[in-house]
Amino acid sequence: MRSLRGRDLISIDDLTSEELRFIIETGLDLKRRFYAGERVIPVLRGKTLLMIFQKPSTRTRISFEQAMLQLGGFVISLGWKEMQLGRGETIADTARVLSRYVDGVVARVYKHEDLLELAKYATIPVINALSDKEHPCQVIGDMMTILEKKGRLGGLTLAFVGDGSDNVLHSILLAAAKLGVNVRIGTAEGYDPDPQILRSAEEQAKASGATIEIFRDPKEAVKGADVVYTDVWVSMGQEAEREKRIRDLSKFRVTPEVMGVAKSDAIFMHCLPAHRGMEVTDEVIDGPHSVVWDQAENRLHIQKAILSLLL
Ligand code: CP
Ligand code: NVA
Repeated sequence: MRSLRGRDLISIDDLTSEELRFIIETGLDLKRRFYAGERVIPVLRGKTLLMIFQKPSTRTRISFEQAMLQLGGFVISLGWKEMQLGRGETIADTARVLSRYVDGVVARVYKHEDLLELAKYATIPVINALSDKEHPCQVIGDMMTILEKKGRLGGLTLAFVGDGSDNVLHSILLAAAKLGVNVRIGTAEGYDPDPQILRSAEEQAKASGATIEIFRDPKEAVKGADVVYTDVWVSMGQEAEREKRIRDLSKFRVTPEVMGVAKSDAIFMHCLPAHRGMEVTDEVIDGPHSVVWDQAENRLHIQKAILSLLL
């Protein structure tokens, strides 16, 4: 396996399936060590991570900051508008300057292309903390959670119900294809995944033996699933389409009835923040199948894995 050191993580497709598995195993190992009392493993002592946010964040920001501290490093977190970026300094010039100061950049942006631009001109690792296209760190953590709960990944079936063009789903599609997890999407007409992502996932699924299917009925998608996953119907940046999205996706809510057609030991996942009563009901997210709090916790452990390997 090629070393991960110095590499960017913009898309799940920046990783081979072997590298993806290795990050997940490292995350599980760091979690075990954390609970065994090794709260700080100072492999990044003397290193600084810069975090740039164009949109709000609770989990990503706090888990990355805490991850860096638990690895012995230091963090600077800034909003896009607090930097000269907000006044029009180019991404390329910013990237060149940052590379002289810090050891890595984590950025949450509206446009995925902006991350690619940052990565093109930075000589330090650039990590995607969510863009309009993907949310790779979320999904690597999610695969760790599924492995932890189910004891395996290959051969499992994940049903995603809701917005089929969601950034988190895009990363799920790519990761699942690499890891041999079948994906069944329940979404409305006009909300299918990005064709380029779908093509890449389908191509890789052939090699891993996984399948990808799209349904227009939530229960059809969830039937017999091991994992039921949803995300918001209105992602950050899509506020202007709010009413239309709610109307179009109203059938794709995860209710106890929908959950009822999954396997009896199925787990419910949501990247959070949840819009309770919209894409998922309280009974499901607070119910016995839900693993959302463990899922949120694993962001911390997987990001320690990502940072320690890339930086
Ligand atoms: N799941 C996730 O990325 O949450 P935040 O928006 O709070 O970071
Ligand atoms: N799809 C959501 C994920 C939030 C973590 C959004 O982009 O707003």
